[in-house]
Amino acid sequence: YNVPKAFNEPVKSYAPGTKEREQVLAAFKEMYNSTVDVPLYIGSEEIRTGDTKTINPPFDHKKVVGHYHQAEKQHVAQAIEAALKAKTQWAAMAWEHRASIFLKAAELLAGPYRAKINAATMIGQAKTVHQAEIDSACEFIDFLRFNVEFMTKIYAEQPVSSEGIWNRMEHRPLEGFIYAITPFNFTAISGNLPSAPALMGNVVVWKPSATQMLSAGVIMEVFKEAGLPAGVINMVSGNSAMISEVLIGSRDFAGVHFTGSTGVFNDIWAKIGQNISKYKTYPRIVGETGGKDFVLAHPSSIPAQVATALSRGAFEYQGQKCSAASRAYIPKSIWPQVKELLLADMASMKMGSPEDMSNFVSAVITESSFDKLAAFIDAAKNANDAEVIAGGNYDKSVGYFIEPTVILTDNPKYDTMCTELFGPVLTIHVYEDAKWEETLKLVDETSPYALTGAIFSQDRYAIEQATKALENSAGNFYINDKPTGAVVGQQPFGGARASGTNDKAGSILNLLRWVSPRTIKETF
Ligand code: ALA
Repeated sequence: YNVPKAFNEPVKSYAPGTKEREQVLAAFKEMYNSTVDVPLYIGSEEIRTGDTKTINPPFDHKKVVGHYHQAEKQHVAQAIEAALKAKTQWAAMAWEHRASIFLKAAELLAGPYRAKINAATMIGQAKTVHQAEIDSACEFIDFLRFNVEFMTKIYAEQPVSSEGIWNRMEHRPLEGFIYAITPFNFTAISGNLPSAPALMGNVVVWKPSATQMLSAGVIMEVFKEAGLPAGVINMVSGNSAMISEVLIGSRDFAGVHFTGSTGVFNDIWAKIGQNISKYKTYPRIVGETGGKDFVLAHPSSIPAQVATALSRGAFEYQGQKCSAASRAYIPKSIWPQVKELLLADMASMKMGSPEDMSNFVSAVITESSFDKLAAFIDAAKNANDAEVIAGGNYDKSVGYFIEPTVILTDNPKYDTMCTELFGPVLTIHVYEDAKWEETLKLVDETSPYALTGAIFSQDRYAIEQATKALENSAGNFYINDKPTGAVVGQQPFGGARASGTNDKAGSILNLLRWVSPRTIKETF
């Protein structure tokens, strides 16, 4: 199969004086001073239901930068119809033409849409320009390019034939439509969850997060401009429970591609179970859910490396990456050095609007997230077995600002060592060096999740021991690096246990879930 060789989109610097900085700031200003109107995209129509909600930047929540329209039941049913109507022609289209649309989308994002989608991610999701760039530009582009290459590998997978017999396999799309449910924290995931099944010939109804509507609208613009036929990806927003009820209740529901919380995924799974006898085909259930990602340092580790992993891994994008470091285990012998370096790094982190590019962090996504995080911080301030050693301030008068915060605890099972917080709060437990083996057990047993984790050591025996002891504790396991920042094609992403079905976004394994192969044996 002849397709352009996939490559990772280089990350632009946005340093003062660069063209990209000028362009993204202009796009930011324009978007910030206008009000966009995000419709539902159903078939060839952009539907404005009039039942709207405002879009507010988390760092300036009184400001209105747009509205999005909410679907009623009938619109969701209409989206299913539009998808099924588009299905026959789309599934029959030669793969080159499907691939070409998504490769063009990648080029549009790399060029003319780069500033716009980054600005939308900065304003709507409160990402700094660097965090927006590695997400809505680079990672999204990478998904689109690499998925095309993975697709051809799947098509190339063929059985052997023998004399007088030709065996072959057709990698057909699933029968029905796919329901994509996406989170606020990565524009790239929002782009990938509907487009990966669509690339394989499926049709999709996509429900973005209510807190990602600004960049979700830009994604639909890009797909349209790239030439995606009407009805292949339909976007509906509104009441999640109602939308799921209609889509999962449909006889034509063929699968769900989900990223979000463990609780919601469990509800979806249960709902699918309730409807199972209704479906034409067993649906594919693919989900990436929660995490309580760890950093474990061995006494042989380099304190500066550990401190950097903690500050970057825990606080970039306000700790709202599913991969963010949120619990750490540091040996007593190196703790004073790690603490000094970590606190010094944190002291340099400025917080505010992403428009000021000297800010390292911005606001958390919603008021409810802010309130939850503030309550955990207050509890730690008042606890006997924990103390706040850095940060700890919060203020929601203008934006939902939570200062990057470190909680130190003697109790390795302290609440914030176990509970997923999804914010800029890191909890650290300092262990006796001699208790390394016990600590390995603790890391594995403390959380029901298994998404990402990092271990630091200069001792190869310790690395080997940890790699074995933690083999089920993290789907993405990092040795001497922070647990965030997986790159498409390089570190396929996903975890098992309560973190999901581990169908590795950014790898062939994910795309395999979106085909229903037919084996054909022909005898001559
Ligand atoms: N790709 C994202 C990360 O690894 C989820 O941080």
